[in-house]
Formats: sequence, structure tokens, C-alpha cells
Amino acid sequence: MTTTNNNEAPESAKNAVFFQSSDEELKGKPKIQGYDFNQGVDYEKLFESFKTTGFQASAVGSAIEEIKKMIQWRQSDEPLKEDEEDEGQEERSQTRCKIFLGYTSNLVSSGVREIIKYLVQHSMVDVIVASAGGVEEDFIKCLAPTYLGDFALVGSDLRRKGLNRIGNLLVPNENYCKFEDWIIPVFDKMVEEQTTQGTVWTPSRVINRLGKEINNEDSIYYWAYKNDIPVYCPALTDGSIGDMMYFHSYKTPGFVLDLISDIRAINNHAVYAKKSGIIILGGGVIKHHICNANLFRNGADYAVYVNTGQEFDGSDSGARPDEAVSWGKIKLDAKPVKIYAEASIVFPILVAETFAKHFKPKNENELKKNKRSIF
Ligand SMILES: NC(=O)c1ccc[n+]([C@@H]2O[C@H](COP(=O)([O-])OP(=O)(O)OC[C@H]3O[C@@H](n4cnc5c(N)ncnc54)[C@H](O)[C@@H]3O)[C@@H](O)[C@H]2O)c1
Repeated sequence: MTTTNNNEAPESAKNAVFFQSSDEELKGKPKIQGYDFNQGVDYEKLFESFKTTGFQASAVGSAIEEIKKMIQWRQSDEPLKEDEEDEGQEERSQTRCKIFLGYTSNLVSSGVREIIKYLVQHSMVDVIVASAGGVEEDFIKCLAPTYLGDFALVGSDLRRKGLNRIGNLLVPNENYCKFEDWIIPVFDKMVEEQTTQGTVWTPSRVINRLGKEINNEDSIYYWAYKNDIPVYCPALTDGSIGDMMYFHSYKTPGFVLDLISDIRAINNHAVYAKKSGIIILGGGVIKHHICNANLFRNGADYAVYVNTGQEFDGSDSGARPDEAVSWGKIKLDAKPVKIYAEASIVFPILVAETFAKHFKPKNENELKKNKRSIF
């Protein structure tokens, strides 16, 4: 008969609680440690500490590392492949990773627009994918402002006052009237060029032309036009710009958009990239369009997603990078990062710790050789 000693806990309980851990498994794993404000307020160190803070802070830390890799990579870092033509060391040292940036419309409605504009102004990204709102909101902001409202403002009150709500932002109806006054004459010119010169308009060519016409340094697409950065928008008609195309089609019928040329162009950007990095803010069409283009090169080499989507509903918006790996849209050996967060908080931090930190002003000649204003 076993007797219980009241002065000692049962051996089986001790064994269950103090079960020996495997040191092997923990080898090389970082120790969790957050920021110590006794060091003062040092944002650089604060963001550095994210990596070892855990949860989404660690994801932000890993994403910063991943974007740094996209920025730093040069073809000359890698040995010549067997099937590769030797373009010379000089050329190889100038060849960088092609960076695809995608974002949902609401981010252009928000102040993230200015962060994106900075990247495009300094040619820090190579290929952009936006949804229609993300195109038109940039132009509309050149004509009239968007205001800070409140998520709780009542829809029926706002409708009576002619105010449109995007989250906690407000866009007066008048802004869309100004947009119409500006864009319709541009559409007229486009149709005329189509008729008289045989111009084939694609969404990316329309955006490029609108960027030229707006002629405003606050605009993302003005800089995309200036710096020759293509902007793809496969669903260009799903926004106010589509409303304008609808009205315009009654006034001047015959405006045609060619989607096939654009899909060929974006897919070839991926096919011919020596290395490919993708940064995708939000989900939906913009996320899939970039990932799908990268399928044509057997996957992106680097990937950062920032979105609030969850995967349990099977949505593409919520899918983790690993789902894209299964489709060949991200490479098998890549170390992709998904940050589960709202992009307006996270993206400025990512840019501050990567692109903006490496900013290097360049003269025209240097830019011709290697177009990025980055080391
Ligand atoms: N300002 C606007 O939002 C606006 C304006 C005009 C037209 N539209 C049209 O509405 C349609 C749907 O918009 P969409 O495709 O741009 O995306 P969306 O707004 O439908 O968002 C898609 C997914 O992206 C993620 N996401 C969105 N915002 C995020 C954020 N701030 N942070 C992190 N994750 C975020 C969420 O998972 C969301 O479900 C598009 O065709 C667009 O042109 C939108």
C-alpha cells in the first residue's frame, strides 16, 4: 500500500510539471526581450526591438529584414548560372531585385498615399498594382481634400449632406464632380487618339497618361509617369473612374480598353526579373494579381504581406504566404512574412526602417544607370 507524505507533492505531478525541456530545439532561437525606455526614446532601437518582442511585433521585425534583402540584392552577389549569359560584372552589379508593390484603394484614400508617393517619386519600387479607387483617389486629392471623420457617423445623415464615408474618412460629393470635370476631356483626347492614331489603351497606359495630365508632384501617378513605373489595375472600371467611363460612353461611344496587353506586360515583368520581391498591403485583386504574375517565374524570391484577412474562410485575401507557395507563386525556399495588422500603422514603420533609411540622392546620370534613389 502506498502512503502519501503530506510534506511532499506527488512525484507524478512533479514529473508532469517539471518535464525536462529539449535544449536542442531552442538552439539559435532569439530570446524574447522588449524595448527598455530607460534608454530614452530612440525609435530606431525601438523598431529593432520589435524582432524579439514576439507576436506581430516580431512579424514587423522579420518583414523589415525581408524588405532589406529586396533592396540589397544584386545579381553580382550570386555565381553565374550554367544557362545564364554573362552580361559582365558591371551590369550584374547594377541589376537589382524587381520590387512589386500592391495596395488596396482605401490606403490611397488614407495618408498611406503620401508614403507610396515617396517610394514612387524616388523610383524605389518597379511595378505597382492598385485597385480602381487607389488610382482615382490619388487624382481626386490633387483636386480637393479628403477629411478625417468618424467610423460612427450615420450613413443616412451623411447621404443627405452629400458626404461619402471610407472608414473614418470623409469625401465630399463635390470632389467627384471636380474629378468628372477634369477626366472627361482627357477621355475625349484618348478616344480621339484611338480613332485617329490607332492608340491601343490599356488600364496601365490610361493611368500613365492621367499621371502626365495631372502634372502635380503630390500625385503617386505623376511620379509613376515621370519615372516610367508601370501601374496595373485589372479592374479599372470598379470605382468612380468606371462611373466616368459609363457617362462618357454615352457622350462619346467607342473607348476601348485592352486587358490582354496588360496581363502580358505584368507577367513578363515577373518572367524576366532576375530576382523578385513582393510587398502587398491588403488583399483582393491586388494581392492575387501580383502573386499570379510571379507564378510565371516559379515564385517570388521575397514576400511581405500586410493584411487583416484570416484564412479560415478560404479567401485569397486571408491566405498566408504558404498557400501561395503551394501554387508556385512564392518560391519553395523563400522566407515570406505575413503581418496581421492594419497597414496604415505598419507600412510607415516598414518604409522608415528600409527604403527611407537607405535613401541616397542621385543625379540624372546616376539614375539613368541605376534608377533607384537608394544605395
Ligand atoms: N476608397 C476605397 O476603398 C474605394 C474607392 C472606390 C472604389 N473601390 C473599389 O472597391 C473594390 C474593393 O476594394 P479593394 O480591392 O481595394 O480592397 P478591399 O477594401 O475590399 O480590401 C480587401 C481586403 O484587404 C484587406 N485590407 C483592406 N484594408 C486594409 C488595411 N488598411 N490594412 C490591412 N489589410 C487591409 C482586408 O483583408 C480586406 O478584406 C475595388 O474594386 C476598388 O476599386 C474602393
